[in-house]
Amino acid sequence: MRSTLEARRDTGQLEPRPWKIRAAKELSAARSRMLRMLEGLPEEALTRQHSPLMSPIIWDVAHVANYEEQWLLRALGASALTDSAFDSLYDAFRHPRSTRTRLPLLTPEQAFAYATRVREATLEWMQHVHEDSDAPLLRGGYVYGMVAQHEQQHLETLAATLQLMTGHAYRPTALARPRPVRVAQHEVFIPGGPVRLGSDALWAYDNERPAHTVEVAPFLLDAHPVTNGDFVVFVESGGYGDARWWDPKGFEWIESQGIHHPLFWEPQDNGTWLRRRFGWVEPIPRDEPVQHVCWYEADAYARWAGKRLPTETEWEKAAAGSDVRPRVHPWGDGAPTASQANLGGNTWGPAPVGSYPAGQSADGVWGLLGDVWEWTASTFGGYAGFKAFPYREYSEVFFGTEYRVLRGGAWASAPVAVRNSFRNWDYPIRRQIFAGFRCARDAR
Ligand code: AVJ
Ligand code: FE
Repeated sequence: MRSTLEARRDTGQLEPRPWKIRAAKELSAARSRMLRMLEGLPEEALTRQHSPLMSPIIWDVAHVANYEEQWLLRALGASALTDSAFDSLYDAFRHPRSTRTRLPLLTPEQAFAYATRVREATLEWMQHVHEDSDAPLLRGGYVYGMVAQHEQQHLETLAATLQLMTGHAYRPTALARPRPVRVAQHEVFIPGGPVRLGSDALWAYDNERPAHTVEVAPFLLDAHPVTNGDFVVFVESGGYGDARWWDPKGFEWIESQGIHHPLFWEPQDNGTWLRRRFGWVEPIPRDEPVQHVCWYEADAYARWAGKRLPTETEWEKAAAGSDVRPRVHPWGDGAPTASQANLGGNTWGPAPVGSYPAGQSADGVWGLLGDVWEWTASTFGGYAGFKAFPYREYSEVFFGTEYRVLRGGAWASAPVAVRNSFRNWDYPIRRQIFAGFRCARDAR
């Protein structure tokens, strides 16, 4: 008999079995978020390519529905709504993002109707699925968790697309953020030793598995992410023009692109800075974590500051604490609440550092989950014993040295898609994602 504690640990959340309740809840949370985000957008905004980096919004909508059809209907033996020729339109590997407007895509009306039809069929078919099935896709409701996380990940991607959109003032209602407690930046000593990394939780991705132990040397980690106020000092002291701070490839990149500051910052003639955040243009909030910097910018800042980026092992050690059993979230195993982390997309931006005292890690590191993704020094690879599941294209095809790992999730990430062990990755030049960083240093 499994104890309640083990059941909790497995799902990484408070709800133990039955998983069907959580699966239905997470699928529905994702869908209502999608509809809220896209409500009132003109047809043109849904179908246009806002940036060569992103898909037309309506592609993501139909892609999410098609993924759900493949995994929660066809793979589970339900009858299909479309055939596999249709899948190819929405296959991310077949068509690069910048070419997707040229495809015979579903219209917005058709795409939303398709998503609704798939969802109805999914919930209907779930009734026939055995709650205690030990089939790999169904154990603990894995494939339902995978599809819910997938939809939420695409909603975060859509938030990035909406941030890149110009010409239509997108001003969603933003949830109030808590009043920050002022705690100055400082370094936290993180003890070394054997660390449990990764996860065998039921809804963990293949790239988090298997849970395993590694040795980590003691180190110092900044209590907060780097803020806009910190970063502007780097910018104004000529940091972007000084090759000493930069990885040579990064220096070449920013020079060739004419990059002098984070994306969406706008220098003013009087020497001040504005930034655009969705449909708002506002003075740069000094105490918010810097976002929309690429890995090269994060790496350069850290070197200028006499520090470095943490490795993903160090980051996870800081988040998981030193108990025998690593924590699922920095504050413990409980599902995130609004006072612990800025997650879920409804604040439409990061909160000032110091806004979430209840979200601190065991060692007193703040803001590890939520607000901004944090670039790490690490490239993306499989842990020893990695096995692709249920398909190679989620993680394995991205392993290698081209991508850097990000940890912790952003304000736009959903709780279901964020945990201490969760690994995200992107190219070191990417800035449209909601990414920032914090610095580390060797302890000696
Ligand atoms: C894990 C965020 C890098 O968006 O490319 C979505 C997630 N995989 N559809 C991405 C994903 C397939 C993925 N990231
Ligand atoms: Fe996808």
